[in-house]
Amino acid sequence: MNRFLDLADFERDEIVALLDLARRLEARPEPHALAGKILGLLFFNPSLRTLASFQAGMARLGGTSFVITPGQGSYLMETRLGAVMNGAAAEHVREGIPVLASYCDALGIRAFGEARSLADDLGETSFKAMTALLDKPLINLESAANHPCQALADWKTLDDYAVPRGGRFVLSWAYHPRALPLAVPAAATHMAAMRGMEVIVLRPEGFGLPAPLLEKARRAAAASGGSVRETADRDDALAGAHVVYAKEWGSTAHYGDPEADARLRAALTGWCVRESWFARAAPDCRLMHCLPVRRNTAVADEVLDGPRSVVQREAQNRMIAQMAVLYRLLKGA
Ligand code: CP
Repeated sequence: MNRFLDLADFERDEIVALLDLARRLEARPEPHALAGKILGLLFFNPSLRTLASFQAGMARLGGTSFVITPGQGSYLMETRLGAVMNGAAAEHVREGIPVLASYCDALGIRAFGEARSLADDLGETSFKAMTALLDKPLINLESAANHPCQALADWKTLDDYAVPRGGRFVLSWAYHPRALPLAVPAAATHMAAMRGMEVIVLRPEGFGLPAPLLEKARRAAAASGGSVRETADRDDALAGAHVVYAKEWGSTAHYGDPEADARLRAALTGWCVRESWFARAAPDCRLMHCLPVRRNTAVADEVLDGPRSVVQREAQNRMIAQMAVLYRLLKGA
């Protein structure tokens, strides 16, 4: 394995084997496995979990890491090809990324994309331009339309709680005061489809997942015995649900238009996940969220603090799952 950019780059069996490795490293730590190895972490966007879990995971395997956050202690980095750099950015990714790569054995990059053009973001135009500059092992720390590390940790969380392989996985849109990226909804949908689940994307009108993302997830579902559909009918989606995965994302009907998005979402503050949502769900239905979550805006306290919430386990699994990714990238077998 040389790159971890998208679960879809792997066969289902390869992901299952990666999760087996994560469980092995969880049960039997290998504190010297990556001794002498260095991980570079380049963050164009904020993070708590991804940043801390990669640093901690690398340290727990005996390696070390460095973090660059352009504009915070290092130069602002220009990402646009052909830019006339007479503004704030003093360094271009075309120099900066190869320089960073020359200092480390693997590089992780977080770059959300510009949220202006749906086609560009679905095509990962900006992220691909950066990754093309590298010949080192590479990890997607979250791009415009993907978050494979979150998806891998979420898959492990579903396994940890023995959620049935064919169980009903409801990805529910949740309210947020502004438009957020498609990366987690896309990755969670694909992950659950690849796991073989009955995936239902529950969202208000105007927030449907883009057709290419649904088609990709349906191909994964077809190969694993799962299914994928969308609905705006909450009662229909939540009946018998084994998992409600709450997530906020921007209007796809008004992608790149914050004013139109804001007008649409202003009437949707009722999309805050409450205990009453689970009335017809399976008795042990779990609440998942990748975090960070706005309490009593996206998910109510009563759910986050109640027994069905597994958000802390998801976050902890970030480190464990990523240790398996690092191990495969930097040690091989
Ligand atoms: N879920 C997640 O990626 O968290 P951070 O944005 O804090 O890294």
